[in-house]
Amino acid sequence: MVTIAVDGPSGSGKSSVSKAVAARLGLAYLDTGAMYRAATLWCVRTGVPLEDAAAVAAAVRSMPLVMGVDPAAPGVTLDGEDVAAAIRTTDVTAAVSQVATNLEVRDELRRRQREIIAGEGDSGFSGGRGIVAEGRDITTVVAPDADARVLLTASEEARLRRRSLEVHGTADATSVEATRDQVLRRDRDDSTVSTFHVAADGVVTVDSSELDLEQTVAAVLTVVERAA
Ligand code: C5P
Repeated sequence: MVTIAVDGPSGSGKSSVSKAVAARLGLAYLDTGAMYRAATLWCVRTGVPLEDAAAVAAAVRSMPLVMGVDPAAPGVTLDGEDVAAAIRTTDVTAAVSQVATNLEVRDELRRRQREIIAGEGDSGFSGGRGIVAEGRDITTVVAPDADARVLLTASEEARLRRRSLEVHGTADATSVEATRDQVLRRDRDDSTVSTFHVAADGVVTVDSSELDLEQTVAAVLTVVERAA
């Protein structure tokens, strides 16, 4: 059973790349960012004030979340409801760092992530051939013993362009500017708890600034093959 860990900042392309790598290798896929987003949505929906750290932690500990791990359709089910779209709204995106920097929340979600990676969670994944897990602290904290560990980076310009395309459907100057604040603020907020801009020992950096999706997938597959 193989574990591949991929970390990177927003706009680095890590979700698309990780899903493609998982599909190519016949592995499961875990989007840990979606778990922090689901935790944020759960608090909002259950009326827990995000500035009340203890209440947020308690809410997340009892959050009924099931992560789908099929790279072709990785569902996110919260209290029986498919929330894959609801966790990507600008409101959730703007609030997620506040929940993700709560250390008790991180403890709880990291525990669940390790369980899923080990094939012991209730995601329907029971080990199989293995999994690609992506996020901000997978190479360093959640799965430091992964068989292959990759930090996916990209220049600020490339990251803003990709996020702009994702959110606004275009990457013209106005849309890129509208994206800039949100992306950079989230990076800064997230950096207070995980250092995902610098590769830890043994983690291979893949810079995707000048690569398209297919080329980036190929670069990550090369890292995986070398690690085997
Ligand atoms: O990757 P994505 O943009 O969906 O992640 C959403 C948020 O979840 C990040 O901005 C960060 O606050 C948090 N996150 C985290 N640790 C991870 C994955 C995501 O703190 N492993």
